[in-house]
Amino acid sequence: MDTNNRPYRFTRDWFSQTAAHWGQLFRNLQWDFEQPRTLVEIGSYEGSSAVWMLEHLARHPDTRLYCLDSFEGSIEHNAAEKAELRQRFDYNINTSGKAAQVEVLAGRSDDGLVQLLSRGIRADFVYVDGSHQAADVLADAILGWKLLKPGGLMIFDDYIWPVYQNQPLKNPKIAIDAFVNCHLDQLRFVVMPQRTQFGLLKLPPMEFTK
Ligand SMILES: C[S@@+](CC[C@H](N)C(=O)[O-])C[C@H]1O[C@@H](n2cnc3c(N)ncnc32)[C@H](O)[C@@H]1O
Repeated sequence: MDTNNRPYRFTRDWFSQTAAHWGQLFRNLQWDFEQPRTLVEIGSYEGSSAVWMLEHLARHPDTRLYCLDSFEGSIEHNAAEKAELRQRFDYNINTSGKAAQVEVLAGRSDDGLVQLLSRGIRADFVYVDGSHQAADVLADAILGWKLLKPGGLMIFDDYIWPVYQNQPLKNPKIAIDAFVNCHLDQLRFVVMPQRTQFGLLKLPPMEFTK
């Protein structure tokens, strides 16, 4: 992962494959990298995807990144993966030099999303990579979509996920499918470079005539 040679400390490499594609993806979507943006990340772990967003999507000093994480890890994480997670995240965000552009909402993502909605915050980009249990992903998708501005982008990680493959309630896929089916009139599919991810653009509301 291109980390601008800063001394980040990542113990897990869950983002470098994505990082290799996202620059081109955002250019294909004609993302204006110089504009102030509101970015929401559901699931930050130790900050590798957050740092990528800070380095690539947060060039404008008014861009804000909201990071929602319980910092307790997920059911698929072992004790070492969960240990001192918040400290590792804080270290990496501080190392980015852009900590002033980050607001952390520590706790359950559904609580954090409701909080952002009630504050009137609206997002240009929502990255959904928190809990991978289907019911949680469905809640993150529905609330994250409400946060998203028309024209905004939502990406789900792990649409195809090799973990808990035979236990659909513990896997994001059925939640993403259900969410998409219920919002078909509000979205456009984004062709993703990685089949494991799922991208959607939010359409403006339909105007109904009598
Ligand atoms: C797969 S990791 C995120 C990886 C990160 N996006 C990256 O690419 O480096 C999932 C994260 O979601 C968090 N998480 C799990 N369930 C959550 C929940 N219900 N609310 C908030 N965060 C949660 C975990 O603490 C963990 O840090």
